[in-house]
Amino acid sequence: MDSTDYLKSHIRTVPDWPAPGVQFRDITPLLQDPRVFRVLIDTFVHRYMEPSLRPTVVAGLDARGFIIGSVVAYELGLGFVPIRKKGKLPFTTVEETYELEYGSATVELHTDAVKPGDRVLLIDDLIATGGTMMAGARLLEKLGAEVMEGAAIVDLPELGGSERLRASGLPLFTLVNFS
Ligand code: PRP
Ligand code: HPA
Repeated sequence: MDSTDYLKSHIRTVPDWPAPGVQFRDITPLLQDPRVFRVLIDTFVHRYMEPSLRPTVVAGLDARGFIIGSVVAYELGLGFVPIRKKGKLPFTTVEETYELEYGSATVELHTDAVKPGDRVLLIDDLIATGGTMMAGARLLEKLGAEVMEGAAIVDLPELGGSERLRASGLPLFTLVNFS
């Protein structure tokens, strides 16, 4: 089994959660098994050790992006910055609001989290509509940083998010697709 199939086989599909008709892709079994967790983290670390793809900082999206992003940052010897849901960050922030299926959401970033010239790797667990990652990228760009790549474990390509993100000019790296 190659590493993509190995990782995919440890993602659990929960039918009808959080709402009827949704097939929820649950990454917790992947984190729970130390051998699989290591393969996951090493796959990202190996890619971003490559000199041409080396970021200067890693940003993670609230909340599951923190689990992966902080470990990848640590392994790369880089700092980690959290992009949080509104109302959680104590210092001055920039914010970005985006549309959800019903309503909207706002994410925030501390104004001193990144600076012009930073090459940021932006990490989340999953891309569905792409709204969360797009908002995160905009926040980083508001502070003058370059988002060198977005990375996630799972892509749900049928929801169009990854295509939309790539069309916006954001390079994207994902490990597992569910169609
Ligand atoms: C999920 C997931 C991504 C986002 C993907 O997070 O972890 O961050 O949704 O959806 P999108 O591509 O349509 O924006 P959620 O908001 O459920 O937050 P959580 O990580 O706190 O559970
Ligand atoms: N799994 C995890 N997070 C999600 C999903 C999913 O299937 N869809 C939207 N966010």
